[in-house]
Amino acid sequence: MAVEVIRTVSIVSGIGVFLAALLTLAERFLLNYGMCKITINNDRELEVKGGNHLLGSLLQNGIFIPSACGGRGSCGLCKVKVISGGGPLLSTETPYLTKEEQEDNIRLSCQVKVREDVAIEIPEELFSIREYTTTVEKIVDLTYDTKALYLRLKDGEELSFKAGQYVQIKVPQYGKVTEEVYRAYSIASSPLQKEMIKLIIRRVPHGICTTYIFDYLKEGDKLDLNGPHGDFFLRESDREMICIAGGSGLAPINSILYEIRDKNIRRKATFFFGCVEKRDLYYTDEMKAFEKQIPDFRFVPALSAPREADNWPGEVGLITEVVDRYITDGSGMEAYLCGSPGMIDACIQVLLQKGIPEDRIYYDKF
Ligand SMILES: Cc1cc2nc3c(=O)[nH]c(=O)nc-3n(C[C@H](O)[C@H](O)[C@H](O)COP(=O)(O)OP(=O)(O)OC[C@H]3O[C@@H](n4cnc5c(N)ncnc54)[C@H](O)[C@@H]3O)c2cc1C
Ligand code: FES
Repeated sequence: MAVEVIRTVSIVSGIGVFLAALLTLAERFLLNYGMCKITINNDRELEVKGGNHLLGSLLQNGIFIPSACGGRGSCGLCKVKVISGGGPLLSTETPYLTKEEQEDNIRLSCQVKVREDVAIEIPEELFSIREYTTTVEKIVDLTYDTKALYLRLKDGEELSFKAGQYVQIKVPQYGKVTEEVYRAYSIASSPLQKEMIKLIIRRVPHGICTTYIFDYLKEGDKLDLNGPHGDFFLRESDREMICIAGGSGLAPINSILYEIRDKNIRRKATFFFGCVEKRDLYYTDEMKAFEKQIPDFRFVPALSAPREADNWPGEVGLITEVVDRYITDGSGMEAYLCGSPGMIDACIQVLLQKGIPEDRIYYDKF
């Protein structure tokens, strides 16, 4: 009886998979949507081949919508407002859209297919995002799983960005990776240095982009990227700042500290950097140097599980516990956080308890 049930379930699922594959093939090879028109902001028009995703169609026309997952529908960054022609909202989109966004016709552009004329609205600043071909000037090992990448722009070119923003790297086909993909990386260098940028990249085991960077990319190679993207950047104010980062989340904070130093901004600031053990720490000397270069700046590295051999004299505990010990009244403060979603969510709770208003807590989760 059980064998019979398993066999029936297998046959039914097999037919389902077969039909889905057939539909995909039919869509790709048989259905011809012809040329479709994309109207942007009621102002510009693009002619594109129908049947492709909105994100890719815009990209082919030099319009770079933020995307960190290469169109797999797992980052939720590629939102655009679709006024007409986008078809029904898909179940792959709803987890990333609030009720208000859904009511406002916000869609994930990597999921919407252009099958007819489409009208969309996007922020004007996206038109100023450009693609750059850079040369890998230097690759530096920071820890066993983290590298700094120095990318030089072509002679005469400059990348203007706000401290905290990110770029999207285009990973070419390599090894078994048969399609180009894009991944987001925060700029770690000073916004005053526009002809060369620094990225800090942590290896994700089996990750497409990080495997390429760690195992294939060499100094002297070319690397395409587009940017700048993002609304995580240093706000103009004189409020005391709390910065919190974990792992490669140090990158945008590094850029923010350069900006404070290079523009001689007078603000009290504390940077809490959370790692597991000593081998995960990097740029400790550079951060300590900022204490001498920026008046009223303090660097607080903390380890959540130092080994005995680490002989760690500094703060121990989860970064939330350390922050909790340091801040008493946060009501006049502003916070900049960057790290894993779990870490950021936990930190936000602590900062709210300390009195920092939600609209003064800025973050990038990755
Ligand atoms: C705004 C923004 C800024 C970012 N800035 C940086 C940065 O400065 N430095 C940096 O190193 N990364 C940064 N990231 C993350 C980066 O974009 C990639 O997601 C990451 O490098 C993994 O890419 P990949 O192609 O190697 O892995 P993928 O091929 O995308 O992923 C492989 C697998 O690993 C999982 N995975 C992906 N990321 C992680 C992770 N962090 N930990 C555990 N599992 C993971 C995926 O779910 C997938 O199953 C940023 C992301 C965003 C959205
Ligand atoms: S590109 Fe990541 S969800 Fe669309």
